[in-house]
Amino acid sequence: MITEIKDFNIRHLNTFRMNVSCGKFIEYDSPSDIPNILTSLPDGNYFHIGGGSNLLFTGDYPGTILHSRILDMETLSVDSSEVLIRAGAGIEMDSLIDQTCSSGLWGLENLSGIPGEVGAAAVQNVGAYGVEAKDVIDTVECYDNEKRTLITLKKEDCEYGYRTSLFKQPANKGRFIITHVTFRLTKNQRPVLDYGHVRSHITDFDSISPMMVRSIIMDMRAEKLPEISIVGSAGSYFKNPVISRADYDILLKAIETNCGTNTTPPHFDMENGVKIPAAWLIEKAGLKGFSMGNAATWHKQPLVIVNKNAKATPEEILALENYIIEEVNSKFGVRLTPEVEHVPN
Ligand code: EPU
Repeated sequence: MITEIKDFNIRHLNTFRMNVSCGKFIEYDSPSDIPNILTSLPDGNYFHIGGGSNLLFTGDYPGTILHSRILDMETLSVDSSEVLIRAGAGIEMDSLIDQTCSSGLWGLENLSGIPGEVGAAAVQNVGAYGVEAKDVIDTVECYDNEKRTLITLKKEDCEYGYRTSLFKQPANKGRFIITHVTFRLTKNQRPVLDYGHVRSHITDFDSISPMMVRSIIMDMRAEKLPEISIVGSAGSYFKNPVISRADYDILLKAIETNCGTNTTPPHFDMENGVKIPAAWLIEKAGLKGFSMGNAATWHKQPLVIVNKNAKATPEEILALENYIIEEVNSKFGVRLTPEVEHVPN
């Protein structure tokens, strides 16, 4: 079934709670609806949202917003240990994770509490506490608007990287609409505990279960991140920058100048350079818990920009974004890039 609403306020459809409208809002509950919807939008002026948890609406969206209500889920056993779970794109990730953890399945537990829906998780390759969606995705089913048919892509064909995929590439804008994602999970104990302090929360390693890890992750998130049902935000606002080794040496000098000789940044060696936590740079630039109008960085995790008192406008969020980019760049010579997608961009 397809439902359509004209001139629709979408404040409740974006976790930043930006008070904006779209020209038309269309929801559908079956993959077979998609060709009809796209035929009715010949100018291609549409944007597909998931849970709206990684977006900044920079103003009213004049075109059409699409949203999936494909909510079916099935379990396909592979063998005595592995299980494939095929989930509709419109299912909330955390509700899926709650179900898989209750069933004792390993794989998704570290993504507990992550906002957003299954389809968007596969577009964005969401990640948290040492696990990325790509680690557990088996296949992605989508409507290919170029070939005008439903296709199934293997994980290897989705070109996954840090918060990126084939579906996010500018050349593929509007081409793929994800309908289902199949996750490969396991009944065998497979905890991922090496990110941050996850391991230190485990008291009894023999009785460890996916539900136990889920509960630890939920507590860690609650400790650091704003609860989006109370404080509007879109999670991490910026990506963690990866800089070349030469730029890392320049950064060390800038840190010495700005923070003194005894400060070393947390850093992680990557294939293509060195990854620095953006939160650290923002904090050291003096911008943790910093406000500009009704936009602020979260006092416990400055990588998150929040909508203070639910009164921030898109302009206020953008002004803070620019301020952070310029301040971090002028102090440390590192240019942050938003992880949050601007719509329209
Ligand atoms: N840090 C600070 N000050 C702070 C917070 C963090 O200096 O106030 C430094 C610390 O050195 C810390 C490091 O930043 O060790 C990393 O912090 P954290 O573990 O909180 O992770 P992050 O890199 O800031 C990423 C994801 C989050 C995810 C966490 C946990 C990105 C852009 N963000 O944040 O994802 O929850 O790891 O895995 O990769 C999201 O994408 O919306 C999101 C919340």
